[in-house]
Amino acid sequence: MRPPADAIGTLSLIVGAIALLIFIGVESALVYAIWRYRASRNVAGEPATFENNRRLEIAWTAAPALILAVVFVLTLGAMAEINGAGVAPTMRIAATGRQWWWEFSYGGTKTANELHIPIGTPIDLELTSVDVIHSFWVPELGPKMDMLPGTTNRLRLFARRAGSYDGQCAEFCGVEHAWMRIRVVAQSRAEFDQWLAAQGPPAATQGGDGERVFLSNICVNCHTVRGTSAAGTAGPDLTHVAARATIGAGVLPNDVARMRAWLADPQRYKPGSLMPRVPLSDADLDALAAYLGSLR
Ligand code: CUA
Repeated sequence: MRPPADAIGTLSLIVGAIALLIFIGVESALVYAIWRYRASRNVAGEPATFENNRRLEIAWTAAPALILAVVFVLTLGAMAEINGAGVAPTMRIAATGRQWWWEFSYGGTKTANELHIPIGTPIDLELTSVDVIHSFWVPELGPKMDMLPGTTNRLRLFARRAGSYDGQCAEFCGVEHAWMRIRVVAQSRAEFDQWLAAQGPPAATQGGDGERVFLSNICVNCHTVRGTSAAGTAGPDLTHVAARATIGAGVLPNDVARMRAWLADPQRYKPGSLMPRVPLSDADLDALAAYLGSLR
């Protein structure tokens, strides 16, 4: 199969070409009539008028109907192709919209905000939401689809080339709707398999002060770090948080310094988000940021 955007692109070109031909035809006739019957030519009398010309009336009713019928059939074909008709998915990934971040689940392995997919592989995303209506949209890889609480929608994704593709929540879902960025990382099958295998087991960290700060504060109520006692599910799974490119679904690039700034005052960067400001000493903040930065 080809990326859904290609099917939309082809259809747009065909409809655009038809519209262009009609435009050129109508404008040519108009310009000709203006030139032919301009006042300075002194054409005798009024130009001919038509009434009850059955042939003409049938022609100008049938022509647009035919054009619309052709566009309709082409559109049905494009819609079926975009939905992946006839091409079985080779991978299913669950995607859940949350205020205001994304959860992706590969079997039992959960990640957030960054969706990794293999190239050349038809993928079905199973979309749902746990709170309000969100809308998943990565224009280069697939159509736009709502994420509705209590129901699952299916969205076909397909990437031809490796790279990073940006997307965005496309349904207003509250104050931080604009900071619900999606980053899709399309990789070769080998790179993807390697990434997925690394996501499964816990990160190889040595524990230390940062882990102690993490486990002894309210962080654990909302976040999971596999391999520790932290098993909260309200916030993003942080097992491999350092491997992701951004913090807070796009608000900050992900490095230790920014992570520290985010931890010190999340509401400064993402007002309204459910991540509270946890009062911590400077030393604890340093240790916590370093710990999260080690979760690769
Ligand atoms: Cu989620 Cu807008």
